Amino acid sequence: MKDIFDAASFPDLLVGLREPDDAAVWRLDDDRALVVTTDFFTPVVDDAYDYGAIAAANSLSDVYAMGGQPFLALNVAALPDDLPPEISSEIIRGGAEKAREAGVVIAGGHTVKDKEPKFGLVVIGFVDPRKMLSKGGLKVGDALVLTKPLGFGVTTTALKREQVETADLQEAVDWMKRLNSTASQLAVEFDLRGGTDITGYSLLGHALEMAEASGVALNFEFANIPFTSSARKYAEKGCFAGGAFDNKVYFESRVKFADSIDEENQMLLFDPQTSGGLLLGVPQEKLEAFTIRAQELSQPVWAIGRVETGTGIQVE
Ligand code: CO
Ligand code: CO
Repeated sequence: MKDIFDAASFPDLLVGLREPDDAAVWRLDDDRALVVTTDFFTPVVDDAYDYGAIAAANSLSDVYAMGGQPFLALNVAALPDDLPPEISSEIIRGGAEKAREAGVVIAGGHTVKDKEPKFGLVVIGFVDPRKMLSKGGLKVGDALVLTKPLGFGVTTTALKREQVETADLQEAVDWMKRLNSTASQLAVEFDLRGGTDITGYSLLGHALEMAEASGVALNFEFANIPFTSSARKYAEKGCFAGGAFDNKVYFESRVKFADSIDEENQMLLFDPQTSGGLLLGVPQEKLEAFTIRAQELSQPVWAIGRVETGTGIQVE
């Protein structure tokens, strides 16, 4: 791709494949840029409506992770021939209602036939190019703030293995359906620069992307990292999907864990998330006001670490 589309010929492509971020960004003028992203995946829950809503929240999240405001979306769906029509319409309705909550109109889309269902959105948003969040925007001294707990991967894996308890699943589903809109609004309001969303590469994988893009080291305080109430339980039952082990293999050489952090807790930090929260860098002097404003907006935030000089990640 690099050879076909050389970046120098497209000066308005502010973010593309050369420095991958959560979404592509195309400058329209000095004040406005388009943010464009797509994502789709196979069902993470059995309820068709929830699946559609989670897939939509997840797709919209990559615009929020850039500090952008989504406004238009298209459905991307692959559905089995023998899927009852009321199921497909529930998936689409879940996505459409989540989009409407975000103030986004679904203007069309495309559906193909496939043995395994897949659903997601193409999303287009606007961002002020001077106020964009990026993986490379962390500064030494920033506090690292997370806006949703971890534990969605082990919980949905427990569901697939028929080991999940209803209340545990509901807790994870409620979080996954939650939009990252308010978290993103906060980031813009406080003029933050460093941010991404936590999805398939897990907290540590996405944090490493940020550390490397920003040229910094990250230090996490395990005791301050939030988890859903059943995450540890399912970790102890070994409810880790293949992706968690892939993440561990791929990222662990760049992560140092304190001896007190056992195998299950380490694995929870490599656990892939669906529709996870934003990870933001908040300058230390803004942290208190940021936390108070988050409370006003009913947006949970957890300060889980800090940005330091160096490379890699340390978990204490
Ligand atoms: Co992302
Ligand atoms: Co994505």
